[in-house]
Amino acid sequence: MHGNWDAFAAVLRRVRRKRFDATLVLGDLVGYGAGPNQVVEAVKNLEGTVHVVRGNHDKVVAELEDGSNFNQPALAAARWTTDRLTPANLRYVREMPLGPVAITDDMHICHGSPLDEDTYVFSIYDAYEIFSNYPEASVIFFGHTHIPSRFVLHSKGTIEVAVVQGESAVLHMEEGKRYLLNPGSIGQPRDRDPRAAYLIYDSEARTVRWQRVDYAISKAQERIVRSGLPKVLADRLSLGI
Ligand SMILES: [Fe+2]
Repeated sequence: MHGNWDAFAAVLRRVRRKRFDATLVLGDLVGYGAGPNQVVEAVKNLEGTVHVVRGNHDKVVAELEDGSNFNQPALAAARWTTDRLTPANLRYVREMPLGPVAITDDMHICHGSPLDEDTYVFSIYDAYEIFSNYPEASVIFFGHTHIPSRFVLHSKGTIEVAVVQGESAVLHMEEGKRYLLNPGSIGQPRDRDPRAAYLIYDSEARTVRWQRVDYAISKAQERIVRSGLPKVLADRLSLGI
């Protein structure tokens, strides 16, 4: 969500009539956007079972890391967020668990990679490393790159990669294959589609549905500019970069 309350609220409105066994949050609740308290409160208030892992921005905002590897706008946003979170919300962010977290025996979640929370999984080689060195689960949801995407390990050892585009896309999962799946980002898409991105996993039908939702981007941008956060963080939202 990256502190983008307008985007998160739009996703919550879109799914409000659906019933979920669980909500999986892949980290980076805060950082960049001007609504960090609203986002954290909304995660805390989600109905039903909620599983969360921390992201790299959560760590810097919670001052578990110093952010020396962040670029200037990202670091400025993290400092801004630390100063504005309520003590209870800051505590929540500080206590979010390190991934990977097992949701079921065969389905795990992480921020970057199950091997390292800060690693970006972009390439087939990145996926190969995970499939080879992390046999613990055959369905792994990951974030961090902000690119809706999937890596599929076929039984013969071939890895297929796809960037998922469009308003809605479905994957039918098959026995004997393994999956590394990225929903994209709600609050800061980076695939040049500025709409909020999430996915829904149906473990009985064995389908994954990626979804995009329009939201009031100009409102999120206004909040950023008004709050004194770097203007570049507002500009990028309408470009989806
Ligand atoms: Fe992120």
